[in-house]
Amino acid sequence: MQAIILLGAPGAGKGTIAEGIKAATDFIHVSTGDMLRAAVKAGRPVGLEAKSYMEKGELVPDGVIMKIVTARIEEGSPTDRYMFDGFPRTTEQARLLDEVLVAHNGKLLYVFLLDVARDILVDRLAGRRVCKNCGAVYHIRNIPPKVAGVCDACGGPLYQRADDSETTVLNRLDVFQKQTRTLIDYYRKKGVLKHVDAGKPKEETQAEIVAMLQKPALRK
Ligand code: AP5
Repeated sequence: MQAIILLGAPGAGKGTIAEGIKAATDFIHVSTGDMLRAAVKAGRPVGLEAKSYMEKGELVPDGVIMKIVTARIEEGSPTDRYMFDGFPRTTEQARLLDEVLVAHNGKLLYVFLLDVARDILVDRLAGRRVCKNCGAVYHIRNIPPKVAGVCDACGGPLYQRADDSETTVLNRLDVFQKQTRTLIDYYRKKGVLKHVDAGKPKEETQAEIVAMLQKPALRK
């Protein structure tokens, strides 16, 4: 098992960059945010537990997150390569991920820190639209669909995520500063942190990361 982590503030483009990496490599995209939203939509117990935290832009308790992440890993095979998006988000989650990696004889290759200025983050979140059917992500100006409000991929309707409202966005950015930024030091000390400028066009950021992941030495 191998793993990489996309670490970045809300709106940094973790999900968008993950799509490009997934298309160019064999990394499996594991987004805890997407898993939680699916659980909420399906009315599963995990979703019921997570919903009120997500609506306020607070972090869902570490125990709930570790349950869904370990269940996903248990479903996979020992040779799987995971790309974590939005996980870990606390030092406790990072520590528990280290334990999971040791238990599976796994290796954390890189943690990509997606750097984006705060004003750009706010603009990206305010303009984000998501397909109700297939989950494809757009931005009303930066990455618009061909027809406003309609998904290019499946023709489904686009909606605005409930936690992209102005007050919740500001809280999510604060939560990132207070609870998740500590991970930068955690992973810098481990020697796996890579800073990436994610304020530029998505294709450029995707290509930069893919180039690092295609080094044959990483397979060993
Ligand atoms: P989650 O879904 O993980 O949300 P997030 O971290 O706040 O990140 P986002 O999904 O908002 O942004 P993104 O970085 O993926 O950006 P995107 O690619 O969409 O988590 C939601 C909630 O779930 C949390 O608040 C928490 O409650 C809970 N949760 C999840 N994981 C948890 C965990 N591990 N522990 C505890 N709680 C957890 O892009 C944003 C916009 O910008 C889009 O419109 C996109 O089109 C546009 N865009 C992207 N890239 C570019 C670019 N290069 N140029 C121009 N526009 C761009």
